[in-house]
Amino acid sequence: MNHHLLEGKKGIIFGALDSKSIAWKIAARAHEEGAVFTLSNTPVALRFGEINRLAEECHAEVIPADATSVPDLEHVFRRSMEIFGGKIDFVLHSIGMSMNVRKQRDYDDVDYDYFHKTIDISAISFHKMLQVAKKLDAINNWGSVLALSYIAAQRTLVGYNDMADAKALLESIARSFGYIYGREKQIRINTISQSPTRTTAGSGIKGIEGLLDFTERMSPLGNATADECADFSIVLFSDLARKVTMQNIYHDGGFSSMAMSQKAMIQYNKCLEETDN
Ligand SMILES: NC(=O)c1ccc[n+]([C@@H]2O[C@H](COP(=O)([O-])OP(=O)(O)OC[C@H]3O[C@@H](n4cnc5c(N)ncnc54)[C@H](O)[C@@H]3O)[C@@H](O)[C@H]2O)c1
Repeated sequence: MNHHLLEGKKGIIFGALDSKSIAWKIAARAHEEGAVFTLSNTPVALRFGEINRLAEECHAEVIPADATSVPDLEHVFRRSMEIFGGKIDFVLHSIGMSMNVRKQRDYDDVDYDYFHKTIDISAISFHKMLQVAKKLDAINNWGSVLALSYIAAQRTLVGYNDMADAKALLESIARSFGYIYGREKQIRINTISQSPTRTTAGSGIKGIEGLLDFTERMSPLGNATADECADFSIVLFSDLARKVTMQNIYHDGGFSSMAMSQKAMIQYNKCLEETDN
């Protein structure tokens, strides 16, 4: 359904890999809502992913960049402004990667080179994006910048590994930069803490299927899907959320406020009966 919420808005969307990606769903919704944007991902992702199909559907140019490289990011912002003939209105950071998760290194046995990479790719890249944008004066006043986070930033979840530390830093960057960018340019910076979601990055999390089932049973509204995350992101990019900034907003069907639900209790009691017998 099109509400024309992003009519006339220009943006940059980082992190669409394939049709399961949260960034892919957000790009498709932004297109429906009337936005124009560029797409960016790593050269490897461009080779192995399906981003060109999305680019065709959304009439968007794809600009390759490693989000840990400041020169690459400068190129993305400069080229986007060139294409649009001026500043942009929204940026999506939908990037995450941990080699420790990929290589199944436990949190008490991480490889520190991998750990640095996790933090650089999944969190510091957000700071780099914001600093590059600010130095180039690339974002219009009252623009909106969003990154995707996860509740492991606040609570310990088995298997999420060093990504938990990366998400804690990501959310902190949103607050620290949000203050400066808000004060000087009225630019909003927020993170969305999304439910576990079946994507390429999501599938890498140890025990993801059990986690998805647990959070579904614990949340009064059930898990939030990638499509629902896209809807919510559109609102945050739009002028309807002009005074929302420096927030980490849970988009998780209520999971973050729960301790025990009726469904989870029934399941728990069943397990107890089985072990008691
Ligand atoms: N899937 C989940 O369960 C879930 C839950 C909460 C938050 N998130 C977050 O959502 C975001 C998007 O992940 P997703 O689930 O859509 O998975 P995804 O695998 O589709 O997206 C991750 C993206 O990060 C990109 N990327 C990796 N290294 C990069 C680099 N150096 N430079 C630029 N891009 C790089 C990948 O190419 C990919 O497009 C991530 O921040 C993830 O942590 C995911």
